[in-house]
Amino acid sequence: MYLESAVFENFRNIEHFPFGFMEGMNIIFGGNAQGKTAVIEGIYLFAGGKSFRKAKDREMIKNDRLHSQVSIGFSDSRRDHKMTVRTFRDLKKELFINGMKVKKMSEFVGNFKAVLFCPEHLAIVRDEPSVRRNFIDSAISQVNPKYLSALIEYGKIVENKNALLRTPENYSQSEFENLFSLYSQRMAKGSAYITSVRTEYVRRLFEYVKVFLSEMTCGADTVSYDYISTAGDVSDISSLESRYIDLIFGNAEREKAAKMSLFGAHRDDFDIRLPLGTAKIFASQGQQRSIALALKLAEGEICREETGEYPVFLFDDVLSELDRQRKNYVLGNLSGKQVIVTSCDEADFSDCKAAQKIYVENGNYFYR
Ligand SMILES: Nc1ncnc2c1ncn2[C@@H]1O[C@H](COP(=O)(O)OP(=O)(O)OP(=O)(O)O)[C@@H](O)[C@H]1O
Ligand SMILES: [Mg+2]
Repeated sequence: MYLESAVFENFRNIEHFPFGFMEGMNIIFGGNAQGKTAVIEGIYLFAGGKSFRKAKDREMIKNDRLHSQVSIGFSDSRRDHKMTVRTFRDLKKELFINGMKVKKMSEFVGNFKAVLFCPEHLAIVRDEPSVRRNFIDSAISQVNPKYLSALIEYGKIVENKNALLRTPENYSQSEFENLFSLYSQRMAKGSAYITSVRTEYVRRLFEYVKVFLSEMTCGADTVSYDYISTAGDVSDISSLESRYIDLIFGNAEREKAAKMSLFGAHRDDFDIRLPLGTAKIFASQGQQRSIALALKLAEGEICREETGEYPVFLFDDVLSELDRQRKNYVLGNLSGKQVIVTSCDEADFSDCKAAQKIYVENGNYFYR
């Protein structure tokens, strides 16, 4: 996959700029608050469908403007594509692929594929479970549109069931029981599917993570993982739905007392383990960063297995956080792939002679 261009209009602090990117390494240099992450965020909109900074659509519109637009041109092994996201202050955003408006996020996501690595991901090992879930969910969604649809659908059911559990007084006894039963069955079905896709993805991910981590640390670090599910053992996928059903209905009183859904894929997690025990406790800061890095490189490999080509790697401000050995490993691993990386410090890339360099000052970009 090759990202050729990205045209920004009224996005964050960028009034207008048409970027042209090279195959291989593209580096955006600039001081703090100049507009580096803005570029990564704008490009990742096409891979993730929304801001990776959790910004609302209108927050990305340049202040005092009514709408913003980002368009990208990219090619995969089959053809050239153009995609556009148009965001308004008060209206729903509009999505276009090759000039055609698309309504469903699951049709939009999965065309342009990117692996994002930003400073927040450095803490993925010890962060709360939702961060690890989001990581695998965005990775899987890009290569499996059915999964993204199921995930969106599941999110709605959880929301509905939680609303029901929070305010039972708004329903008659029989209404409440009927809805509880309906939502619970749907949750069990959705959970069984989502958990099974995730366990398979994480299994494949760690095949690569082990190799990358061992290469990065010259064989010093080895990792494994435990998949954590409210359904317990996930090795028998075929019985997942019935086990979720048993759990939810067997613990209905607990859910009613807690006023929220306690069982299902929305509680999944995976614990990364070193030989000493969980990496949350036993990994040093540097080891945690290496694992995060290995996870991201592994994500790229699975995308290549699924689609036949590497995604675009978007690295926001992370290389300066790594020591020389890890930095060299990443740069070596990424050679031959397209990378767009941001940095405050040119010294981090003194060896990257062939890279395209873009400098940013206050939302204005210069090629040098
Ligand atoms: N909606 C918006 N309209 C105008 N400016 C914005 C908007 N949102 C953010 N900004 C500003 O855009 C500038 C660039 O932000 P960005 O996050 O891209 O900086 P950065 O170069 O990545 O900095 P750092 O090195 O600190 O991460 C900041 O000054 C920010 O306050
Ligand atoms: Mg930034």
